[in-house]
Amino acid sequence: MKSTVFLGGGHITSAMVAGLRLAKYRRPIVVYDRKKSQKLRVLRRQFHVDIARDLKSAIEQAELVIIAVRPASVAGLLAEIASCATSRRPELWVSLAAGVPLRNLHAGLGPPARWVRAMPSPVCRIGRGLTALCFDGSVRKRERVRVRRFFSHVGQVVEIPENQFDAFTATFSSSHGYHALATLAQAAQRAGLYRKTALIATAHALGDGVAYWRQSGQSLDDLLHEAATPGGIAAATMAAMDKSGYAQVVANGLKAGIAQARRNAKR
Ligand SMILES: NC(=O)c1ccc[n+]([C@@H]2O[C@H](COP(=O)([O-])OP(=O)(O)OC[C@H]3O[C@@H](n4cnc5c(N)ncnc54)[C@H](OP(=O)(O)O)[C@@H]3O)[C@@H](O)[C@H]2O)c1
Repeated sequence: MKSTVFLGGGHITSAMVAGLRLAKYRRPIVVYDRKKSQKLRVLRRQFHVDIARDLKSAIEQAELVIIAVRPASVAGLLAEIASCATSRRPELWVSLAAGVPLRNLHAGLGPPARWVRAMPSPVCRIGRGLTALCFDGSVRKRERVRVRRFFSHVGQVVEIPENQFDAFTATFSSSHGYHALATLAQAAQRAGLYRKTALIATAHALGDGVAYWRQSGQSLDDLLHEAATPGGIAAATMAAMDKSGYAQVVANGLKAGIAQARRNAKR
């Protein structure tokens, strides 16, 4: 049976492999990384992946190749692949690289390679990921189904136009949750809570609040109204945050993330 091959054995590969095995994904998984590090041995031991000895052998056994190196390394890796004298080369390629557009991927590795961009979340490690996909026009219908099915092993999948990819990438990051958790908990500590209590309270506010919104099916406006009685404490807290520029701070953050993604496209 041909394998699913990850080129690059770092953070996102490790999270995806863990999520795939958790979902009982049975196809052979091969990981190729330029360094044969301890983290690869851990992947082999925990998740039964094969570690490819070189790039050529990784590509030759692939049915689906996933590019999982940093954006700045993509062009170099594609050049290595293009000059690799392989006996066969798969046609379906997926890139996880943030900001690197389909046109760059095509320029690095042209036909018969057909390209998909995917933006998965590391929370796929526990099967609660979210992956955005966009396909180049040459990807066949059954290949689209296969790619959607592959990522749906590790969580929800959404298909979006490529021109929304950078905004999606800046928005969907689980780092927002951790950042908000850290910031709110710090403020709560300064307001007098023990760190442990501050984290419990903050995790409830963010995590359980959002879970309730998802499960209840109620509108955000209704829930805001329910949790923040006019004239009450939550309403006063939110009003002060808004007056201090909360919406602008968040918008500035997204703008910077999108600008970084656009810089990746120029590498
Ligand atoms: N981390 C995330 O949550 C996340 C989420 C969605 C998408 N992504 C995308 O996924 C990609 C990988 O991110 P990551 O966080 O997993 O990065 P990472 O932890 O740095 O892993 C990348 C791995 O690829 C290796 N590598 C680099 N060039 C290579 C080459 N030519 N051949 C073989 N291996 C090579 C790196 O080795 P060295 O250490 O020697 O460079 C490193 O081990 C990025 O493009 C990122 O935009 C990441």
